[in-house]
Amino acid sequence: MGFLFARSSGYSFVALALLACVLLAPCQAAKAGLSIKFYAKTCPGVDTIVRSVVAQAVAKEPRMGASIIRLFFHDCFVNGCDASILLDDTLTFTGEKNAGANINSVRGYEVIDAIKSQVEAACKGVVSCADIVALASRDAVNLLGGPTWNVQLGRKDSRTASGTAANANLPGPASSGASLVAAFAGKGLSAREMTALSGAHTVGRARCLMFRGRIYGEANINATFAAALRQTCPQSGGGDGNLAPFDDQTPDAFDNAYFKNLVAQRGLLHSDQELFNGGSQDALVRKYAGNAGMFAGDFAKAMVKMGGLMPAAGTPTEVRLNCRKVN
Ligand code: HEM
Ligand SMILES: *[C@@H]1O[C@H](CO)[C@@H](O)[C@H](O)[C@H]1NC(C)=O
Repeated sequence: MGFLFARSSGYSFVALALLACVLLAPCQAAKAGLSIKFYAKTCPGVDTIVRSVVAQAVAKEPRMGASIIRLFFHDCFVNGCDASILLDDTLTFTGEKNAGANINSVRGYEVIDAIKSQVEAACKGVVSCADIVALASRDAVNLLGGPTWNVQLGRKDSRTASGTAANANLPGPASSGASLVAAFAGKGLSAREMTALSGAHTVGRARCLMFRGRIYGEANINATFAAALRQTCPQSGGGDGNLAPFDDQTPDAFDNAYFKNLVAQRGLLHSDQELFNGGSQDALVRKYAGNAGMFAGDFAKAMVKMGGLMPAAGTPTEVRLNCRKVN
């Protein structure tokens, strides 16, 4: 800590900034060189374009808001928030779209394309696809009734994508509570941040394939809830793709119902209910269930922090012109 007392004002500024980093969530983004004003001069209209395209998409189909939120998570957890998930497979690499964790499941690519084409028309070659996903997910949360926040900007897009990395980094629905904590810790996110971010499962849908084991095999599930889900999701004979909402009361509202559901043993996925199953996150789940504002605040902060995940230093990047392929 000696440098804290360095006489040069430059050094003490750095020391203060480092200290602030320990205390403030947006610091990870700041360290990565991001800023909320990144496009203030070069593309001042980007926020408005993103918001209006996402608003149209959500008005047409509320679930699309959920899908865009998930797109951001699945981008950031695989080699950083670098739009790697948006790259189509090529002859030389198998990307993330068709990896087991994403195929037939992640959606919203067309909405990102629609935003990108409008943004390119307004300011060519300036705004990264990764930043568009970050902005779009912020707007999706807010348009569904959740909080809003300032998005740190200045990300660059990857020049490659890895299906193997997607499968290795994205947690699955059979995960234990301990493995969820570990998966997020591996990205520098705390157990509390993991639980807050999981609150995104207050919107959106999951396929029968993802929750069949829970509704036919588990004891810590409300019997009425399980019986209703069995109507959607047969035990055998197909139906893998049949959808159920994560939150059956307010399926498209970004509220704290996810946590109320967990307390009532109405988590849809095994991994959801692991956050309230006599383990380390029970007390926090109860707090979020009883305090929507606390959840909203923690969720917004954790999204900013997750958005600071960056590709490893030295990784080649660019601002893609078409989000689906490298320049
Ligand atoms: C904690 C670990 C997590 C696990 C194990 C997990 C797992 C899943 C699974 C299995 C689905 C359904 C996929 C399908 O049916 O094909 C899903 C959907 C979804 N996830 Fe997660 N997830 C996690 C964390 C997150 C986080 C951190 C976010 C965002 C901040 C998120 C946002 C969503 C959303 C919004 C949907 C619904 C998407 C739609 O309807 O298109 N999830 N998740
Ligand atoms: C399960 O949920 C229903 C409402 O759908 C409720 O009436 C019932 O009391 C719950 N069961 C338990 C054991 O909490």
